[in-house]
Amino acid sequence: MKIIGINGSPRREGNTSRMVATLFDTLHEEGIETELLQVGGTDIRGCRSCYACIRNKDHKCSSKDDGFNGIFEKMIEADGMVLASPTYFADITPELKALIDRSGFVSRANGGLFRHKVGAGVVSLRRGGGIHAYDSINHLFQICQMFIVGSTYWNLGFGGREGDEVLKDNEGLENMRDLGRSMAFLLRKLHG
Ligand SMILES: Cc1cc2nc3c(=O)[nH]c(=O)nc-3n(C[C@H](O)[C@H](O)[C@H](O)COP(=O)(O)O)c2cc1C
Repeated sequence: MKIIGINGSPRREGNTSRMVATLFDTLHEEGIETELLQVGGTDIRGCRSCYACIRNKDHKCSSKDDGFNGIFEKMIEADGMVLASPTYFADITPELKALIDRSGFVSRANGGLFRHKVGAGVVSLRRGGGIHAYDSINHLFQICQMFIVGSTYWNLGFGGREGDEVLKDNEGLENMRDLGRSMAFLLRKLHG
């Protein structure tokens, strides 16, 4: 069983990736394989609204030169996904939004490729707007017949400019560990 994580922060070693790393540690303890991919800080573009995915039904986006299709292939192969973002003006980063729009559209254009996968959003923030960002991620899962995994609090962690402050947010990190245990529980029920 495999979960992929996608980091929407342009900072590869920032608060968001540290939260995902904590979650992944627990998934490893539970025997779940993981892989972390990066969209934040890449050249991923938004959907061009060409509707070629609906015509072609070839599991691909017609924009082929920005790395999207490689990430999308891994999303389809995995049993579940963690989409992670820092909060930018009370929402997710534009790179993660571009991935959500395109992957959601191509998935739906091909008969629901995300159906019955496990999904969790993870959001870091300095002060406010994190719940709105978290909701933005869950919108993808909810329209793709996926199973959303929650935890003992919403999946938020607090950290600022330094990029490692989230390591002081014990409740946020413990929440990631609880999330990992619940994801593993659900994966075992679905595939065990
Ligand atoms: C452009 C920009 C916008 C931000 N907007 C918000 C915001 O609306 N609310 C908030 O709490 N933090 C905001 N922050 C702070 C980050 O969300 C926060 O520090 C986060 O933990 C950074 O994650 P990272 O280290 O993975 O990049 C913003 C940061 C940047 C660079």
